[in-house]
Amino acid sequence: MRRVTRSELAGAQQSTSLTKTARQLWDKLENKTATIGVVGLGYVGLPLAVEYAKHGFRTVGIDLDHERVLRLNEGDNYIQDVDSDELKQVVDNGMFRAVDDFTSCADIDVFYIAVPTPVTEHKDPDVGYIRSAAQEIAKRIRPGQLVILKSTTYPDTTEGVVQPVLAEYARPQDMQLGRDYFLAFSPERIDPGNEQFTTANTPVVVGGVTEACTELACKAMNQVVNHIHPVSSPKVAEMEKLLENIFRSVNIALVNELARLCDRMGGISIWEVVEAAATKPFGYMPFTPGPGIGGHCIPVDPYYLSWLARRYDFETSFITLAARINEEMPYNVVDAITRAVARQAVSLTEANILILGVAFKKDVDDVRHSPALKVIELLREKGIKNIRFADPHVKKVRVGGKGGNMELEPIELTDEVLQNHDVAVILTDHSGFSYAQIAKQSKVIIDTRNALRDIPHDRDKVMLLGGGSF
Ligand SMILES: NC(=O)c1ccc[n+]([C@@H]2O[C@H](COP(=O)([O-])OP(=O)(O)OC[C@H]3O[C@@H](n4cnc5c(N)ncnc54)[C@H](O)[C@@H]3O)[C@@H](O)[C@H]2O)c1
Repeated sequence: MRRVTRSELAGAQQSTSLTKTARQLWDKLENKTATIGVVGLGYVGLPLAVEYAKHGFRTVGIDLDHERVLRLNEGDNYIQDVDSDELKQVVDNGMFRAVDDFTSCADIDVFYIAVPTPVTEHKDPDVGYIRSAAQEIAKRIRPGQLVILKSTTYPDTTEGVVQPVLAEYARPQDMQLGRDYFLAFSPERIDPGNEQFTTANTPVVVGGVTEACTELACKAMNQVVNHIHPVSSPKVAEMEKLLENIFRSVNIALVNELARLCDRMGGISIWEVVEAAATKPFGYMPFTPGPGIGGHCIPVDPYYLSWLARRYDFETSFITLAARINEEMPYNVVDAITRAVARQAVSLTEANILILGVAFKKDVDDVRHSPALKVIELLREKGIKNIRFADPHVKKVRVGGKGGNMELEPIELTDEVLQNHDVAVILTDHSGFSYAQIAKQSKVIIDTRNALRDIPHDRDKVMLLGGGSF
């Protein structure tokens, strides 16, 4: 199916095959009288909910986290990508409200599900949050409702997990999918911290269980997103999202492996190699090495696919290998820290280690699966007690592992703090750090992001990942 633009859809007539119920929902979307419900008000759900409210749709956000609901109804924002003034405005003008249960949700026409999709201890998919959200929606299902799953998950979740839950409650009411109620999958593409690509200008993929489901889900998404790309089924859309994320995982693993090779060989900097390769105007896309991968998607998604593949007696060896290479990176960083301490007159357990940046990527506050947490955990396992961190975006972190659970709060980055630490480790290259100060005041620096590339520095005191001295 080809991409459909907003203006095309706006001018498009509903297909004649739509049932009366479907046509009524289409009209409600067209004239903005549909009520939108977003289940899960996190990094994905809250921006989406605010976007609908801004576009004139009465929007209800549903989240089990009572604290979050209270804050939102006060107009108090907790998601970096959401404009706090816009949130306040849609709360004040009554277009958005948050609730912590589903009891008052009978009038919702379009439900989005944007709940977490973590892995279990054994790295198997945990779709329990999706199932539980679907059950709450199902208990109140009525004709004319559309459910769109946005959580990243393995192919067949929409039809294999959500659809049976909805059907269990719809069937006794003689409601039929595609005729009376509708279900689709549309993966989220939000890139926290990215100011260039927002909800409106990032194309989305939509795959409905039936043609009517796709048509209505496209219509719903198109109210807030400019370009829609319909596909033939939810499974295609689910697999497409995994391809996007696994593409990143594999390419990051490739460059991480090359970084380690450059370090083994000496004399070649992977950063210079990547920069040179990036001059090729076709057939190449630059990825950079780092201390590991983080966030809610890239560390998790390869395992969703490999779990599914095993059910078909298929081993995703290449994808799993990439995930393993990326997971090894924090161990390499800790090796480098140990060697950096060994060069100084301090024992390993007494060393003062300063972690610069704990968020999983530049300029965001999200620490989920951040490699920094693993690095801190591994350092504590080595008996290192004096570990501190600085991060302009993060107020506290919790670390676990064999060293026990611990909560850490950031310290302010002063000259004295830098001078008093034996090793400063740049794990996240936030724009808010003063790299000139870090370069000047630190005793030894481990740079996993090439953050000092444009800063004059003493090469003898810097160990650069992939720079041949790591
Ligand atoms: N964060 C991203 O950048 C990103 C990007 C693309 C896709 N995704 C995917 O989107 C999904 C959501 O991710 P997120 O980062 O927004 O998660 P999040 O943890 O930031 O937010 C999820 C919210 O859902 C709530 N919740 C959990 N169970 C619930 C239930 N049964 N009913 C109501 N609320 C419930 C939680 O309290 C939380 O507020 C995941 O599948 C993730 O993989 C995330």
